[in-house]
Amino acid sequence: MFRTATSTARILTRRRTTTSATINPLLHHHHFLSQRAATMSSSAAAKRLAGKTIVITGASSGIGRSTAFEFARTAPNNNLKLVLTARRIETLHVVAAEIRAEVGDGVAVLPFQLDVSKPDEVRAFVSALPAEFRDIHVLVNNAGLVKGVAQAPAIAEEDIDVMFKTNVTGLINMTQAGAVRGGSIYCATKAAVRSFTESLRKELVATRIRIMGVDPGQVETEFSVVRFYGDKSKADAVYAGCEPLTPEDIAEVVVFCATRRENVVVADTLVYPSHQGGAGVLHRKGT
Ligand SMILES: NC(=O)c1ccc[n+]([C@@H]2O[C@H](COP(=O)([O-])OP(=O)(O)OC[C@H]3O[C@@H](n4cnc5c(N)ncnc54)[C@H](OP(=O)(O)O)[C@@H]3O)[C@@H](O)[C@H]2O)c1
Repeated sequence: MFRTATSTARILTRRRTTTSATINPLLHHHHFLSQRAATMSSSAAAKRLAGKTIVITGASSGIGRSTAFEFARTAPNNNLKLVLTARRIETLHVVAAEIRAEVGDGVAVLPFQLDVSKPDEVRAFVSALPAEFRDIHVLVNNAGLVKGVAQAPAIAEEDIDVMFKTNVTGLINMTQAGAVRGGSIYCATKAAVRSFTESLRKELVATRIRIMGVDPGQVETEFSVVRFYGDKSKADAVYAGCEPLTPEDIAEVVVFCATRRENVVVADTLVYPSHQGGAGVLHRKGT
């Protein structure tokens, strides 16, 4: 069984410190924008993002990339800082340039090469950031992948290894650092993430750290290309006759969750396209 409705973006938000709450970002930076911004009213979401630093893993593609754009569009003039991480650093530079081209210099975007499956890299991550990016408020734990469609007896050891190292230990290590058919291992990794997320929420119940989960159904990204080891025609067949979600659809939900009032925890969400009735239950046009 291919479980499409599985966990992806795990969002961890932290209360802003009193010090940063008193800073008016428009006075500190972007003087050329301040006059215009002063006459514009900001949405509640934009205000809540003021002065925040957001780390997104897997920002080079798909849902992570769209989430970076959505945060920037939501708070283009609020001293927002985005740290975009993934293995493909050149792609991250392109994403950062595209964000700047769209929203201007009001959002600071830092591309940062990071392989979440390498514990040493993750451990060194925060201290390797420039000082002004180290006070992380929101961590979007999005990086993840599925390899292959083999059923349990035939799954390559290497694929099991890479999925667990990326989807489970990678995500757990990041959290510590930040202050489908035949998909049994993928499902196991995502079930582990769900358990970890739920336990973490309980552990942190006495704090203002909010643990939220966004679980997408079928979304068309590079996900299936990665799954089929780069075979584009096999990846395209996954979506034949379907109208999958776009990564932007999920990005909007992630940013919505991250920009609620401090006392609001959207603990869990499940987001399907309208032709999907459950994991692996998809209506295909013409069938
Ligand atoms: N698409 C769907 O239908 C769907 C459904 C449910 C859940 N999800 C989940 O949604 C999340 C995002 O997937 P997507 O659909 O946006 O797929 P995608 O387009 O393939 O993007 C995956 C991202 O994860 C990054 N990544 C993979 N391995 C990494 C590693 N070891 N270290 C750092 N970054 C790594 C990739 O960047 P680099 O290659 O540059 O490192 C890429 O930016 C995943 O957790 C996935 O399991 C997707």
